[in-house]
Amino acid sequence: MQVTIIGTGYVGLTTGVCLGFVGHKVTCLDADAAKIATLEAGHTPIYEPHLEDLLAVTRPNLRFTTSYEEAVPGAEVVFIAVGTPPGPGGSPDLRYVRAAAEGIGKYHSGGFMVVVNKSTVPIGSGNWVDSIVRDAYVSHHTGEKPDGKFAVASNPEFLREGTALHDSLYPDRVVIGADDTRSLEVLYTLYRPVLDQTFASPTYLPRPEECGAVPLISADLASAELIKYAANAFLALKISYINEIGALAERVGADIRQVSKGIGLDARIGTRFLSAGIGWGGSCFGKDTAALVATASEYGLNMQIVSAARDVNQRQRGLVIEKLLGELKILKGRTIGLLGLAFKPQTDDLREAPAIEIAEKLIARGCKVKVHDPVAMERFAKEYGALEVTLCPTAEQVVADSDAVVLVTEWPEYRDLPWESLAGKMKSAILLDGRNVLDRGRIRKAGFRYLGLPD
Ligand SMILES: NC(=O)c1ccc[n+]([C@@H]2O[C@H](COP(=O)([O-])OP(=O)(O)OC[C@H]3O[C@@H](n4cnc5c(N)ncnc54)[C@H](O)[C@@H]3O)[C@@H](O)[C@H]2O)c1
Repeated sequence: MQVTIIGTGYVGLTTGVCLGFVGHKVTCLDADAAKIATLEAGHTPIYEPHLEDLLAVTRPNLRFTTSYEEAVPGAEVVFIAVGTPPGPGGSPDLRYVRAAAEGIGKYHSGGFMVVVNKSTVPIGSGNWVDSIVRDAYVSHHTGEKPDGKFAVASNPEFLREGTALHDSLYPDRVVIGADDTRSLEVLYTLYRPVLDQTFASPTYLPRPEECGAVPLISADLASAELIKYAANAFLALKISYINEIGALAERVGADIRQVSKGIGLDARIGTRFLSAGIGWGGSCFGKDTAALVATASEYGLNMQIVSAARDVNQRQRGLVIEKLLGELKILKGRTIGLLGLAFKPQTDDLREAPAIEIAEKLIARGCKVKVHDPVAMERFAKEYGALEVTLCPTAEQVVADSDAVVLVTEWPEYRDLPWESLAGKMKSAILLDGRNVLDRGRIRKAGFRYLGLPD
């Protein structure tokens, strides 16, 4: 099929490359000319494992452009995958979605087209996008109405950065929301290779043994839109729940890791998203929980559980400062090392990354801050150049001469640092394991004062 993807970020690029890989002809459009130039040169503007490899083999099925005039005409399916950053009052900022919808309406020509909201958008956005495409079409086609020429569907995205390709090729489910059967049929055809798993897997992304046919959830537009928010909010509150239990575990002297394991092995609960620590970051959980609360309040509802999960998450970041204060008593003039900048391992995404807020708080208290990340340093220098921190080329340099080190992002390489030789290099060997992933026994034996979150 002829597909156009608007927005070549974490979601749009992954979707484009995967749809190209399973045989569709995909045009990837982005407003950012530098991103398109990078892609045309065969590189990816983001760090996502194996994305560049898959891009290389899929290249014959891909086209990159900054022009709506080139990308829209003739497409059977157009995905809107632009950013929906947090806006004022908790609702997302939809200006990029609006611009994409206007571009589609303006340049749509040819036959029936399904316009798909893949961006996470508030409930009711399907109708809103429909009206924008319609109005733009009418004003650029000398008053002609686009009846029967397009329909809007929702196809929420559930990929996780760091495993985005795996999640797109072997998803737990595909959700399609549409209020007309024609769109459903088009999208069913589009996703058929993924649903039926008929494509040959790349060697570096083997099909998981348990992956059979992928379930398709076909729903109405509003339900599909709500599925996305409800899923993200549930995962967010699972993390906040274990952090709340963690606070109690610390008081009563229980080990939160044992508690997590003990409850997670109950199949009704599940082990994932049940690790206590600094809490969630990233571009989705904060924004999507805020949007859910905002949407509910428009309907006179108070989303108490989701709001509480947000409060707990915010408190976790503050705990880092409290714990350091508890140990060092005075933070002014201290040097604190942060291991990890990205909001989670295997990505360079810094949006809402806890490390940024923690660094800001430490700087505000008069600390010197040293940082390291295996892949996000370049992006950090570009996006947070004004933040007065020292970028260290190695984790060891972060540790050396610091008064305390905080493990913020659980990159596997930090577990394997030569901790035994590092304690002696610090001013005071305090290690706050913000993700509870280090071997406490080993770290203590290496001479550190080990602090967990919770302890
Ligand atoms: N990142 C994730 O893990 C994830 C997962 C699921 C859903 N989502 C949702 O998917 C959407 C996209 O997220 P992302 O992380 O890929 O964002 P992103 O910021 O990485 O990418 C968005 C891209 O859209 C481009 N863009 C903006 N306006 C444009 C326009 N008018 N025309 C063409 N291109 C334009 C930007 O230049 C950028 O490259 C968001 O709504 C997000 O909530 C993200």
